[in-house]
Amino acid sequence: MSVFQSNNNYDFSVVKGRPQARVSWGCQSDKLRYTSKTHAENVGKFLTYTGAEMIVFTVNGKVRRVDVSPDTPLLWVLREKLELVGTKFGCGEGLCGACTVHIDGTPQRSCITPVGDVQGKKVTTIEGIPEKHPVKQAWLAQEVSQCGYCQPGQIMSAVALLEKKPHPTDTDIDSAMSGNLCRCGTYGRIRRAIHAAGVKPAAKGGKKP
Ligand code: FES
Ligand code: FES
Repeated sequence: MSVFQSNNNYDFSVVKGRPQARVSWGCQSDKLRYTSKTHAENVGKFLTYTGAEMIVFTVNGKVRRVDVSPDTPLLWVLREKLELVGTKFGCGEGLCGACTVHIDGTPQRSCITPVGDVQGKKVTTIEGIPEKHPVKQAWLAQEVSQCGYCQPGQIMSAVALLEKKPHPTDTDIDSAMSGNLCRCGTYGRIRRAIHAAGVKPAAKGGKKP
């Protein structure tokens, strides 16, 4: 049995030649644990790729080249090849928003984006948002996070919203953030943090690279 483990409640295994992806959520309940066959298949492809193609794209301002199959989900590449583990795996089906990154400035679900689709594009992950960015600062000031698992995705969606609309209404916020789920129910604090970040000008170096 070989295992390579990422941080934070998320591991891949190969047991007797069969790849498995397993997620343990932030809360303690057997009901909240599941194994995804689709993702096991993706991980299997990812692990066994012998690689003739090279995908080239920019991540957080740096040009990166990866020798993976073009249909590998961007999320796997970010986490397992580029060691950018801030972006999280939640549902793996584009439904929860935990894996949100920016692709050419637009928030997208990296779990359902084949890496071949970002060839030549600019990807920004949570690591590419400076610590002094008003959104990250507001998140800290409002103590938004509970378990924290969904928060990188929440922040990426919030940053994109504020870049488009610096002073959003509650309705704007609800609509822009509706695809980002939080099992801990931090929605009220997220909304407050977005309002707070919206009233501050972007700090120096606080813009996305
Ligand atoms: S992990 Fe990508 S949307 Fe849920
Ligand atoms: S899932 Fe725990 S803080 Fe959102």
